[in-house]
Amino acid sequence: MAWRVISVLVLGCVFIVVNCENATEAPKVDNTWKETGICRKCICKDDKVNCLDQGITEYFKTEEWANLKPMKPVTIDMSENLFTNVTVMAELPVQVLNLSHCAIEFIETASFKGLQQMKQLDLSHNKLTTERLSPHAFEGRYSPEKYEPLNAMRVLNLAHNQLHSLHQDLFEHMPELTELDLSGNPITTLDHVTVIAISSLPMMKILRMRSCGFDDIPDKFLHTPRFLERLDISDNKLTVVPQELVEAKSLIFLNLNQNPIKEMDATSKDNPGFPVLRKLQELHMCNMEQLTRIGPGALAGLQTVQRLHISFNPQLRSVHPRALARADDIGETYDWPLVKELYLQSNNLSEIDSRFLSRWDLLEKIDVSNNPYLCDCSTQWMVDMLVPVVEHKRVNASEKMVCQEPVEMRGYTMKHLHDIHRTMRCVDKYGNRPEKDGAILLGTLIGVLLAVPIMFSLMLLWRNGYCSWLGLRGPVDVSRAFYKRAPNDDNYI
Ligand SMILES: *[C@@H]1O[C@H](CO)[C@@H](O)[C@H](O)[C@H]1NC(C)=O
Ligand SMILES: *[C@@H]1O[C@H](CO)[C@@H](O)[C@H](O)[C@H]1NC(C)=O
Ligand SMILES: *[C@@H]1O[C@H](CO)[C@@H](O)[C@H](O)[C@H]1NC(C)=O
Ligand SMILES: *[C@@H]1O[C@H](CO)[C@@H](O)[C@H](O)[C@H]1NC(C)=O
Ligand SMILES: *[C@@H]1O[C@H](CO)[C@@H](O)[C@H](O)[C@H]1NC(C)=O
Repeated sequence: MAWRVISVLVLGCVFIVVNCENATEAPKVDNTWKETGICRKCICKDDKVNCLDQGITEYFKTEEWANLKPMKPVTIDMSENLFTNVTVMAELPVQVLNLSHCAIEFIETASFKGLQQMKQLDLSHNKLTTERLSPHAFEGRYSPEKYEPLNAMRVLNLAHNQLHSLHQDLFEHMPELTELDLSGNPITTLDHVTVIAISSLPMMKILRMRSCGFDDIPDKFLHTPRFLERLDISDNKLTVVPQELVEAKSLIFLNLNQNPIKEMDATSKDNPGFPVLRKLQELHMCNMEQLTRIGPGALAGLQTVQRLHISFNPQLRSVHPRALARADDIGETYDWPLVKELYLQSNNLSEIDSRFLSRWDLLEKIDVSNNPYLCDCSTQWMVDMLVPVVEHKRVNASEKMVCQEPVEMRGYTMKHLHDIHRTMRCVDKYGNRPEKDGAILLGTLIGVLLAVPIMFSLMLLWRNGYCSWLGLRGPVDVSRAFYKRAPNDDNYI
C-alpha cells in the first residue's frame, strides 16, 4: 500500500515537472524568425546574428529586422559586406552592432532609433564622408529632457573612413559616449567644428586618433572631456610635444609613437617637454624616426609614470640624466617617478645614465638591448649594477647589451664583462685614451724643459765662434766683414 502511494506521488511529480517545462517553453514555439530572410542568409544562434562576409549588397528592410524580435538578438555582425546604405532598423534589444568593412556611404536618418540598448556601434572601414554623415543618422527616440538620444551608446568606431572634419553636432544624440575611434581619417587639421564636436563629449574616456595626419592639437581640444584616460595620437605629424595635453588631467595612457618630434627639453621654448600630467602611468614614444634627444626635465611632468616605452628610435642618441627628474620648489633636491617598466631597446644610445631613475631595484621589467654602447669607465655601473638588474628579470637578457665602442671592446656583451668582473678603462669613443694623452703631455713637458738649457748652451758656443770648425760662420765673422768694408767707403767721400 505504502509503495503504491509513493509511486503515485513520484509519477505525479514527474507529470508536474514535464507540464511545467512545456508551460515555460510554450511562448517560444513561435520560431518563424528562423525562416525569415535574415536567418536564411546569416547564422542565427543563441542571441547572435552573424552575417559576416555574406556578400550582402543591400541592407535589410525594417520588416525583415522586425521578424527577429522573438529571437531577442543582442549582437549583430554585418561586417565585411557590400551594402552602401544603412536604413532604419526595427526595435530590437541589440547591444553590439558591427557594420565595419562594408562600403557604407550613407546612413538614413534615425536608422538606429529602435536600438535603445545599443552600447557599441562599429562603423570602421567604410566610406563615410564629412558631407554625407549627418548627426541625424544617430537620432534616437524622443525624450522630454534630452534631444532624441541613443541613451545606451558608449562606444563608437568611425575609424578608417573619409572624414576630414566632424560635424559640430555629430555626437548630439550620444551624450554618454565614453569611447571614440577616429583613426585613419584624413583629419589633417583639427578645425573649429571638430573641436566643438569633441567638446560635446564630456564623458569620453578613450579617444583614438591614430594616423589622421594632423600636426597640431589646438587649444581647448581636450578641455571638456575631463575624464579622458587613454589617448592615442600616434602616427600623426606632430613635431613638438603638444602642450594642450595639460588639459587632460585624468590621462593614464598616452601613445605618441611615430610622430616626427625631433627633440624635447624642458628648458627649450621651441621643443618643450611634457606638461604636468599627474595621473599618467604609461607613455609610448616608439618608432620616432626623427627623435634625437630627450633633454633635461623633458619627462619631469610625468610624476607618476610607471611604464615608459621609448624604443626603436633609430636616431635617439641622448637621454639626459635628469630627463625624468623633477626639481622641488627650491631646486635643490629632485624627485623621480617610481618607474616599474622601462623599455629603451633599439635606440642609438651609447649609455644609460645611472641617474635616469632613482630606484633601479624597483623595476619589474626592463629592456635596454640593441644600443651601440660605449664600454669604458663611464658605463662601468652598467656592467656592475645594471646587468644584475636585467638578469634578475630574465636570464641572459644582458647578452643583448653589446659594446660598440671603443674598437677593442666591440662585440663584447655586458653580461660577459660582468661575469669576468671587468674593470673598463677611461676611453672616449674616438679611441683616445686620456691617460695616454697625459703621458704625451708629460713627455712634451720634459722635452721642453731639457731643450731650453741645451739651446742656451748651443747659443753660447755659437756666439763664441766655437762652431766655425763645423763650417758655420759665427756672428764674429759678420762684424769683421762689416769693419773690413768700412775703409773702402771712405775713399769715395
Ligand atoms: C512536452 O513537450 C515535449 C517535447 O519537448 C512533447 O514531446 C510532449 O508531448 C509535451 N507534453 C505536453 C503535455 O505538452
Ligand atoms: C542610398 O541613399 C541615397 C540617398 O538617400 C540614394 O540616393 C541612393 O540611391 C541609395 N543607394 C542605394 C543603393 O540604395
Ligand atoms: C567587427 O567586425 C570586424 C571584422 O569582422 C572585427 O575586426 C571587429 O573586431 C568587429 N568589431 C566589434 C566591435 O566586434
Ligand atoms: C647614432 O649616433 C652616432 C653618434 O653617436 C651617429 O654618428 C650616427 O649617425 C647615429 N645613427 C643614426 C642612425 O642616427
Ligand atoms: C644562458 O646562456 C648560457 C651560455 O650561453 C647557457 O648555457 C644557458 O643555458 C642560458 N640560460 C638560459 C636560461 O637561457
